[in-house]
Amino acid sequence: MLSKLLSKQVLNQGLRLTTRTLSTASQQKLVDRKPDVKYQKLFINNEFVDSLGGSTFEVLNPATGDVITEVADASEKDIDRAVKAAKDAFRLGSEWRRMDPAGRGVLLNRLADLIERDRAYLAALETLNNGKPFKDSYNIDIPHCISVLRYYAGWPDKMNGKVLPVAGDFFSYTRREPVGVVGQIIPWNFPMILLCWKIGPSVATGCTSIIKLDEHTPLTGLYTAKLIEEAGFPPGVINIVSGDGPHCGASLVKHPDVHKIAFTGSTQVGKIIGVECAKQVKRATLELGGKSPNIVFADCDLDLAVEMSHFALFFNQGQCCCAGSRTYVDEKIYDEFVQRSIERTKRRKVGDPFDDSTEQGPQISHEQMDKILDLIESGRRNGAKLLTGGERHGDKGFFVQPTLFADVQDNHRIAREEIFGPVMQILKFKSIEEVVERANDSEYGLAASVFTKDLDKAIVVSNALRAGSVWVNTYDNFDPVAPFGGFKHSGLGREKSEYSLDSYSETKCVTMKISERNS
Ligand code: NAI
Ligand code: MG
Repeated sequence: MLSKLLSKQVLNQGLRLTTRTLSTASQQKLVDRKPDVKYQKLFINNEFVDSLGGSTFEVLNPATGDVITEVADASEKDIDRAVKAAKDAFRLGSEWRRMDPAGRGVLLNRLADLIERDRAYLAALETLNNGKPFKDSYNIDIPHCISVLRYYAGWPDKMNGKVLPVAGDFFSYTRREPVGVVGQIIPWNFPMILLCWKIGPSVATGCTSIIKLDEHTPLTGLYTAKLIEEAGFPPGVINIVSGDGPHCGASLVKHPDVHKIAFTGSTQVGKIIGVECAKQVKRATLELGGKSPNIVFADCDLDLAVEMSHFALFFNQGQCCCAGSRTYVDEKIYDEFVQRSIERTKRRKVGDPFDDSTEQGPQISHEQMDKILDLIESGRRNGAKLLTGGERHGDKGFFVQPTLFADVQDNHRIAREEIFGPVMQILKFKSIEEVVERANDSEYGLAASVFTKDLDKAIVVSNALRAGSVWVNTYDNFDPVAPFGGFKHSGLGREKSEYSLDSYSETKCVTMKISERNS
């Protein structure tokens, strides 16, 4: 009963951070759960077009391994077309540049309304293509997209400059201007959410963009393209293309007419993109990988800590850059915590993501499944204690059993590398000083969490952790108002919130000579 209540609390948390007004999956009669795919072409200048060479690639259903459809495969020449469209839309005197700031907010609100109208369809399409449970797509992902867009809709007419008290007879002020044409590259773990995290600040600041969808999960982004056109965005303001990383993504990064790249994905690719951008002094924000520590002190609410630590790791099939993947537990409660975590992990329901009782769907691809199974094998070999799971689930699709390792040591590969799968690591600690040092001993610094009822301890430890987000007695709170991004190799810059607006704008300083200053 208690764990049921706690699961509800986790879901409510998801809802609270998304919307207070939308209904939940169980309250609404749902439309077709195996949706038809309507858009498979590139969206350039508000039109759906084939790629120039006519080539396409297959999109798979990760729950079955079957082909859902084929979509256009953008080449370097297509990227060139999309950049030209974005550049034209950004020209001085264009409809976009002449639009009142508040007009950009109206467009974002309209897009949010259209996503809300088509919520059930988009949620179903997300689940079909990504494999995440439908109840999560419907109750968490799509509502979060809506609230992110509405949050940014309020910004365009509130991004003020300053009047500067310069010396002498001068009048000097700053303006926040759009950075220009922006290239945005997103991964497959939260296709709709990351699309909206990119659209929000780019539109709010008045940039134009080319968004490259992930090659595994292009379907909801291409459908959203249709909604962008329906919302009334001028042609070329948002262009959306599907294509691979090394050719399509790389040509967007290298394009000389793109002024900024916003990338979410692996640290490995983020480093390559960082180098490319540096060559052209191109602005870059990078939201990369993590190996986030979750510290559970003996004075915590144990029921909450067990459920939240489970959620922190297993949510979204473990495919979260901020997954709480190093669970440090105080030796005083270690055995009890491990025991309860085994029970919770064994109860985790894996299966058809369209089934309402399913908590865990498939991993995104065969490649990811193999990578996870390889890391599990390394955990076994290194001597960590495998307590449940550890194998592929079934023989169809890309499912992995919910897996739990205890007695993990800091030097094990599973304690150092990003697994990006449903594999939890529990490590034991004795003192605050020791655990803080171990938690910070990672090349990553994306997120961290602390479970304790002691306020002093919560603050001291949160301040000491080298991570962009620290959650205390909670996890994965993703309110649009809060910034998100990494220390160290977890990235550069911040997504969401007003902080992301800085990286989409340039500060211009205008100084005028005035004849005489009286005061
Ligand atoms: P990836 O970093 O290769 O792909 C992410 C995006 O970058 C995709 O849109 C891809 O097409 C694009 N891309 C790849 N190479 C590129 C290049 N040279 N230039 C420009 N764009 C490029 O991630 P992948 O291969 O799908 O997953 C590998 C690992 O990365 C995962 O196991 C996980 O550890 C991590 N990852 C982290 C994510 C995060 O949210 N931070 C999301 C996805 C993966
Ligand atoms: Mg890759």
